[in-house]
Amino acid sequence: MNVVMIGAGYVGLTTGACLAELGHDVCCVDVDDQKIMNIDRGRLPIYEPGLAELIAANRGRGRLNFSCDLPSAVSVADIVFIAVGTPSRPDGDIDLSHVETAARDIAPHLRPDTLIVIKSTVVAGTARRVRQLIAQQRQNRPVAVASNPEFLREGSAIADFMNADRIVAGSDEEEAGAKLAALYRPLVERGIPYVRTGTINAELIKYAANAFLALKIGFINDVADLCEGAEGDVAAVAEGIGLDRRIGSAFLSPGPGFGGSCFPKDTRAFAATGRRSGAQQTLIETLIRKNDERKRLLAQRILQQLGSPRSGKRAAILGTAFKANTDDMREAAALTIVPLLQKAGVEIAAHDPRARATASVHLTDVHWCDSPYTAAKDADLIVILTEWPEYRHLDLGRIARAMRGRRIIDYRNILEPKKVVQHGLEYSSLGRPKLTPSRLQKTAAQAESGSRWTDIAASPL
Ligand code: UDX
Repeated sequence: MNVVMIGAGYVGLTTGACLAELGHDVCCVDVDDQKIMNIDRGRLPIYEPGLAELIAANRGRGRLNFSCDLPSAVSVADIVFIAVGTPSRPDGDIDLSHVETAARDIAPHLRPDTLIVIKSTVVAGTARRVRQLIAQQRQNRPVAVASNPEFLREGSAIADFMNADRIVAGSDEEEAGAKLAALYRPLVERGIPYVRTGTINAELIKYAANAFLALKIGFINDVADLCEGAEGDVAAVAEGIGLDRRIGSAFLSPGPGFGGSCFPKDTRAFAATGRRSGAQQTLIETLIRKNDERKRLLAQRILQQLGSPRSGKRAAILGTAFKANTDDMREAAALTIVPLLQKAGVEIAAHDPRARATASVHLTDVHWCDSPYTAAKDADLIVILTEWPEYRHLDLGRIARAMRGRRIIDYRNILEPKKVVQHGLEYSSLGRPKLTPSRLQKTAAQAESGSRWTDIAASPL
């Protein structure tokens, strides 16, 4: 099929490249000429593992190209995807202006049987609104508009497309549903469930999915706080509850609070939809508040561990991206935590394998380092904010020798406490007992005398 993707961002680029990989002819269109020219030269606006290779392979096969000539591309399209941004408005609702502009831009050039598919995350009722908008531009000759939300995670987007848990196809016209089914046939034939429903349900599924996933993260963060007070271990609790198929083990890792371009935006939009629909989403409203608060609270914890005076103290931040395997800094915990530490007079050294360029736009007065070891040099404490694989295998002896202080704060729980402490460092994380060299020695001594770890864990530091 001839497919046009309006919007060459995270979703449009990945979806366009994957549809080309399925055998369709895809043209990605964007209003940003420079972005299109850069992509044409192989310079992508985003880092997504495997995407550059997938784009190059399908460009080589002549199945994927990039253009700024929207009229020509749309006039020969069987399907036009709208994959433009839907940023948050101050009241939490989403700004649909880019979607509406795209709809107006394509309207005059559409063939009567072309299907429009909204891929952007939009509030319930948007597909119907776009259908009206386009009909108005076409002397009331409507075209079919479907909703096909994405469930792609940054850092694993290609796998999430090719091995999707399900494809949600929202259409209010029969022929629209059939055309979408034909587009995704190669995936459906591999056994990926295909959910046929109306456009409003499809739009709600996207928000409800993200709101629930965010809620799961907020819940495990609360459980981590509870474990700290009850001397529990959140990893053991997460394992014990996650084995229940009704709960599932995914998304039960405590962290500094969720970030990214989706969860924060989508939870706010979900709450706004609830208010508008007379069904206030108090659970999600509380989640949003607590998630924002968590980032500030963790900054206070770091300051407490630094002690006073703080001016002249140095903290080394390992990881600034909102999560591993991306360079995306949108609503990353570092954007809250670093400025709060600096405001208290703390000097910041930082390292991130991918996000330094994007982080440097948002974070000022940071001493950026080329490795975690240079970041650790003369640091009074180290804070791990992003779960980059390389941090899981740090040479802790080298880190200990480089540091001025003795403390490692691991807000992603990626290090083994005992391994850290064996190098004379003090280790704290989320939802697990704090460990110090003296406590480890006491453990060893009591282990010899037959005492149980929990007796030690329960004893004061
Ligand atoms: C999310 C949804 O997962 C995806 O389905 C949707 O299409 C887009 O939004 P993404 O924002 O890329 O994807 O990242 P995700 O992996 O979901 O993580 C979101 C945030 O939650 C990150 O800040 C991450 O660090 C955090 N997180 C995730 C946790 O704190 N704990 C977890 O167990 C999982």
